[in-house]
Amino acid sequence: MRRILSRRFLVLLLVLGASGVVFCQDMDEMWGEQVMKLKAADAERGQLFTEGNYAMFIHWGLYSHIGNHYKGKSYYGIGEWIMNGNMANIPVEEYQALAAEFNPVKFDADEIAKLAKDAGMKYIVITSKHHDGFAMYHSQVNKFNIVDATPFDRDPMKELAQACKRHGLGLGCYYSHYQDWTFPGGGNGPKQTADGRKVDFKYYYENKCRAQVEEITTQYGPIAIVWLDTPGRIPREYVEELVQIVRKNQPEALVSGRAGYELGDYQTLGDMEVPHENVEGIWETVDTINDSWAYAWYDNYWKTPEEILGRLISCVSRGGTYMLNIGPKGDGTVPELAARTLRKAGEWIKRYPQVVYGTDASPWKHALPWGDVTVKDSTLFLCIFDRPKEGELYLPGLKTKVKSARLLGEEKKKAGLKVQTKGNWTKITLPARTSEKMVPVVQVELDGQPEVDPCWGIDPALETTLLAQFADVTGAKQEKNSWMEKFGEWKHVVRVWKWEQGGRASWEVDVLKPGYYNVDLTYIGTGRIVWGVDIEGGEHIQNQQNSSHNYQKFPIGWINFPKAGRYQVSVSCIEGDLAEASLKAIHFTFVD
Ligand code: GLC
Repeated sequence: MRRILSRRFLVLLLVLGASGVVFCQDMDEMWGEQVMKLKAADAERGQLFTEGNYAMFIHWGLYSHIGNHYKGKSYYGIGEWIMNGNMANIPVEEYQALAAEFNPVKFDADEIAKLAKDAGMKYIVITSKHHDGFAMYHSQVNKFNIVDATPFDRDPMKELAQACKRHGLGLGCYYSHYQDWTFPGGGNGPKQTADGRKVDFKYYYENKCRAQVEEITTQYGPIAIVWLDTPGRIPREYVEELVQIVRKNQPEALVSGRAGYELGDYQTLGDMEVPHENVEGIWETVDTINDSWAYAWYDNYWKTPEEILGRLISCVSRGGTYMLNIGPKGDGTVPELAARTLRKAGEWIKRYPQVVYGTDASPWKHALPWGDVTVKDSTLFLCIFDRPKEGELYLPGLKTKVKSARLLGEEKKKAGLKVQTKGNWTKITLPARTSEKMVPVVQVELDGQPEVDPCWGIDPALETTLLAQFADVTGAKQEKNSWMEKFGEWKHVVRVWKWEQGGRASWEVDVLKPGYYNVDLTYIGTGRIVWGVDIEGGEHIQNQQNSSHNYQKFPIGWINFPKAGRYQVSVSCIEGDLAEASLKAIHFTFVD
């Protein structure tokens, strides 16, 4: 979220800057610029990434031993930040001393690699050193590590590297190159050495960071990805040197999009961000299986297998790769429910690997009311998350001729499906029941590369949602907004707000079935708001509804599309706090 810095704030910055107070950047500002990156120059590099499409992220460290409960108090938010002022604010020495209690004897690298394999993941990226400065491998450079500072006396990254090899998985290392909260000079870390000498970032970089990146890229075999994070204010020349070290030691490895200065090999979106529109180039979404990266004792809000598949397939359908995180406990085990839901989703991927691996983005460039689409040459895989009541699957705007459609996983005789086209619409009729109970998949063979007319189709059988992100906007502000629910639990929405009188958000839609549709709006606001909905050259409806500080859906009323065809629909904010009224989406549901 790009914040407009007020004049007063600028003066404050100058005063603080002058007085040497370093202003902590917000986490999302520390992520650095997100830039589109086309396919890696040499195809080998990153094949696992571009074809695998699905991977395991592991946040595991000293913070897992704490599990967001410290000195009798629970802290809510991302567990790997427990030491930080945003959470328990644990002094450096006190935090370092905790290592003596950290002894994850139940850690089983083979079990974790097997879990990733069963889940359908192609590689694992583990936190070799996080912002707290604790290394989860046997570093010769710094004693604050799992072997020298704890009774554990084993190198878990060595064991994981061997297990990944045994299970045919790639291995990647997360390394916090800018932030180090325990090493003098580290980003947002101590400003002086134990003997009181004032030091700067150069001291940390030359005495820890650079040497550790050498270690992780030379001592653990082939590395598929070096996942640098929160570049913050790291000087450019250091990032250039780190990337060179990776190129020298691991020529086939990718460097993450959060290296800084656009020096990464691909784009890493914001935390927990699954885009709604296709994103060009090579990119990844990083997500977590509950709401915290590292283990948090209270966080049992696990994603269901269907939710995991939903976010994975959405990512692949938008053209990206999905890296889903687990946070092992302080004893080294993976929370049982996390493993269970991962395995369940993995069973589906084992049934339909062709839908996920090596597939391309949907030609519709966004989700459809019933689900989403991945593509392999002239074959479409329709993944059905929301089955229409009568089994009528509508494909708006498909221009390429359909040769055949069949349900995957059904016996031969029952697999073929009826396909009808009417104008700009294709309808595929599903049988009353499908053997696939999780996410049924329809394989559609086309007579050539898929081509789709981008106009928004209003589905006659299911609720159709049009996001504010896709609207043409006049007299209002359309912008991306990212915020944290619990600390570090990121949400991302493109909103239309700061309405002026007469301001409009418009979409061009295609209606197959004329008649009345119920209209709902999803928005945030303050107090009662009057919204208007118009069909250009047609009906205008308006209604007053209350609002809340969370995005919520409110009914506006029925609107009539008199005949099949194209329409311009628009939303306007008529009365109430127009500035704070923040529209996320409009929804149409056929009624009569
Ligand atoms: C953010 C958090 C960090 C986490 C990372 C995962 O940068 O600061 O704790 O590891 O996101 O993407």
